[in-house]
Amino acid sequence: MERKRRLIEPGDLSTGEIFHLLRLANDILADPAKYGERCKGRLLASLFYEPSTRTKFSFDAAMLRLGGQVIGFSDPNTSSAAKGETLADNARVVSCYADVIVVRHPKEGAARHIADYADCPVINAGDGGHQHPTQTLTDLMTIQKHMGRLENLTVGVCGDLKFGRTIHSLVSCLSRFPGMRFVFISPEELQMPAFVKDLLHRNDIPYEETNQLEQAIGSLDILYMTRVQRERFVSEEEYLRLKDYFILTEEKMALAKPDMIVMHPLPRVNEIQRDVDSDPRAVYFDQVKNGMYVRMALILFLLGLDKEA
Ligand code: CP
Repeated sequence: MERKRRLIEPGDLSTGEIFHLLRLANDILADPAKYGERCKGRLLASLFYEPSTRTKFSFDAAMLRLGGQVIGFSDPNTSSAAKGETLADNARVVSCYADVIVVRHPKEGAARHIADYADCPVINAGDGGHQHPTQTLTDLMTIQKHMGRLENLTVGVCGDLKFGRTIHSLVSCLSRFPGMRFVFISPEELQMPAFVKDLLHRNDIPYEETNQLEQAIGSLDILYMTRVQRERFVSEEEYLRLKDYFILTEEKMALAKPDMIVMHPLPRVNEIQRDVDSDPRAVYFDQVKNGMYVRMALILFLLGLDKEA
């Protein structure tokens, strides 16, 4: 049996496919009405074992705006998972009803496991502290729009780099484009994991590590802030000690290049002060908007509906 397409990590897409998705997302953004019936009669199952606002709502909105329909849950206790049903059985069952499955789960590897058993395409909407590939597509669309290119960029990622699935996916994916350089800004306890750094080493991509945001900010084209994630910490005391390690303020923004952009996957807690929101370099709310269009493109692509009839 032919294996269904899946998106578990950015490596599941070729660079050509990524550019195709970005072109398609921009085309949908320019003329959404053209795509309003494209998924008529198709069903998306949205299985959220972990809380979400952006990813869940943007996938649901994406499918509805394509003329399709959505089933699913945002609380696994309302599904038979609460009775002990395995992820594998859940995947088999849901794929009897749905054309595409979107899954978020607190355990690393859960989305891949579901994809191994489902009989339809599966999209990883975040698996624990591992990967979040559709956030990366959102981020690429935002970078392309605001920087005009996906190459020759110095990208600073700041905050919880250990558990931050969004930046694991983003750095892995950006590493395929030419001329990228990374600055990893974190407390020592939350440094970028080896699996991301090993990938950079293998591909000869330069990076440096620091815990000094003020010193690093002036060299960056992009500052990607992340939240210190309470839900990933075993020790509440450790979380409280690290949660406000970095706070981006207008004073720190004054040290940055005039055309640097600030991104954040959101939700934020304290790591970006509210007065930064009105700085024209803060693009994190535009990033949210792009997420829906790129997910519309992804749904069409995985269902084979991306080409005009
Ligand atoms: N960026 C992101 O994944 O947000 P949610 O957790 O709200 O989906």
